[in-house]
Amino acid sequence: MSRMRGMIIAIDGPAASGKGTIAKLVAEHFGFHCLDTGLLYRAVARDVERAGFRLEDTWAAVSYARGLDAATLDDPALRGAEAGDRASVVAKIPEVRRALLKYQRAFAERPPGAVLDGRDIGTVVCPDADAKLFVTATAEVRAERRFSELRARGDTTTGYAAVLAAIRERDARDSGRADAPMKMAADADLLDTTQLGIEAAFDAAVGLIKRKIGQQGAA
Ligand code: DC
Repeated sequence: MSRMRGMIIAIDGPAASGKGTIAKLVAEHFGFHCLDTGLLYRAVARDVERAGFRLEDTWAAVSYARGLDAATLDDPALRGAEAGDRASVVAKIPEVRRALLKYQRAFAERPPGAVLDGRDIGTVVCPDADAKLFVTATAEVRAERRFSELRARGDTTTGYAAVLAAIRERDARDSGRADAPMKMAADADLLDTTQLGIEAAFDAAVGLIKRKIGQQGAA
């Protein structure tokens, strides 16, 4: 494998674990590019629905994945838990995953380095990443975080129990699918953010990454 590529940091984990925020802060810290790969699946789901197809329509999902315009990833419609739930449906389709691989791998190789966050970065997209983190927290704590976000946005209709049920359903779909299920890579470091605020989680992430990169330099 060519070493012309930049440094690759893979950050995987379940919804609302804090992995997206950690990935952005880590990328800023090291001066690397950052790709939230969940946005790709969110955008495919958006395009399928906008064109009037069902999310389960494999043909439609595959064609929109193949034709995805990465310039549309900062669309505000892609934010929020509902867009994530819809993304998780198209993400089960193996041909959709395959269609999005090339873009992710090319992004990962951008010098001087890249941070990618998702579900299968350390296992499938970049198995040879220089550092891998699996960021997680209990479903209850992740649901509390999401619930507070909803309240902060003025949503007073969605209850905690519904948020927790949606988190559990998404976890089951993402880790239960046959192709590239969410799972911790054997050589990843586990970062449990259940008891950590974002600053402490970021510090822990940088510490783990530096240790991993230092070990490689010494090897
Ligand atoms: O990280 P996120 O919540 O934006 O991801 C939305 C969905 O997209 C997630 O539930 C499953 C899918 N996804 C995936 O299958 N593989 C990735 N690398 C990233 C996201």
